[in-house]
Amino acid sequence: MKQTKLLPIYDPERDRPALLEAGRLLREGGLVAIPTETVYGLAANALDPEAVAGIFEAKGRPQDNPLIVHIHEMSMMEDLVTGIPEAAHRLAERFWPGPLTMILPKTNRIPMATSGGLETVAIRMPSNAVARAIIEAAGVPLAAPSANRSGSPSPTTWQHCVDDLEGRVDAIVQSDPCAVGVESTVITLCGEVPRLLRPGAVTLEQLRETLGQVEMDRGVLEQLSPDARVSSPGMKYKHYAPKAEVTLVRGTGEAFVRYVQQQQPCGLWAICFEEDAGLTVPNRCYGAREDHLTQANRIFDLLREMDKQGAKKVCIHCPDTDGVGLAVYNRLIRSAAFHVVDAT
Ligand code: TXA
Ligand code: MG
Repeated sequence: MKQTKLLPIYDPERDRPALLEAGRLLREGGLVAIPTETVYGLAANALDPEAVAGIFEAKGRPQDNPLIVHIHEMSMMEDLVTGIPEAAHRLAERFWPGPLTMILPKTNRIPMATSGGLETVAIRMPSNAVARAIIEAAGVPLAAPSANRSGSPSPTTWQHCVDDLEGRVDAIVQSDPCAVGVESTVITLCGEVPRLLRPGAVTLEQLRETLGQVEMDRGVLEQLSPDARVSSPGMKYKHYAPKAEVTLVRGTGEAFVRYVQQQQPCGLWAICFEEDAGLTVPNRCYGAREDHLTQANRIFDLLREMDKQGAKKVCIHCPDTDGVGLAVYNRLIRSAAFHVVDAT
């Protein structure tokens, strides 16, 4: 068991002593949970294989699942990748700092522990001011996967990090809830055509506007077998799942409500849209049907709440897949272990 420090950093100027402490812990090889605009991340020095090994241990994460490396300015990227193609410049100009991760061929500065044994590396420049100040204070690029125990929903508040990682990491930064609420969009620029590996707040539509042709990896919508050779190893594992059995239910509001009301009521919960009227089983709304930003913002907290409520079965009204809805759908279909039904 480690003694986990809580470091309040809401304003990098005002909370400077805690900021410098976070930077020092990271520089010295420690593990610190930090806020970003997407989800909280469990950070360590990306260039130090031992520090990075600590991340895998604290999370219980499979070793072949590579980490995202976080930078706070473009110059930090130069010796991490073999070159910065035109497409990367265009994406950086439009979406950085922000919720976009790009995969590029790596240099030897990135240890294999960080890249999960791959010759490529995932790079992201977050926009959250506290995240940026922590990277700067550490003075090194930070590897940071989501700060949850492997398999459970990603943390969007510092309290979620405490629930999952207290006693397993050196410090947890106390800061605001995450503005976006789902992890960054991941795009690989290593093939002929740029390919979306994980949808996020930067949408497929926006990527196509910026780059022209962009493919969508089949793992975005489909289940991949555990031994499949996949382009993004993270997508093959069970993910985002509460303890309850989750079912994703497609259909109109009326059809959804009718479906839920027909289920065995013991331990049953529903996660619905604001428009879904007439549910008598316990329920939470995750936003209006068209409001994908609110859905993204609330969904992981609600999945965690289902565990706290002791839910046995959760029926979730399936989101539409346009815009940021694709990211919400991608997480929910995993939390449901790909169990989707059509309600009529
Ligand atoms: O928003 C985010 O991206 C958050 C915050 C903390 O920045 N981080 C995050 O990290 O979500 P993580 O480790 O939970 O997800 C990283 C994803 C995984 O699906 C992983 O397989 C993929 O990115 N990935 C990382 N490096 C890769 C690489 N070289 N090639 C292909 N996929 C890669
Ligand atoms: Mg994760």
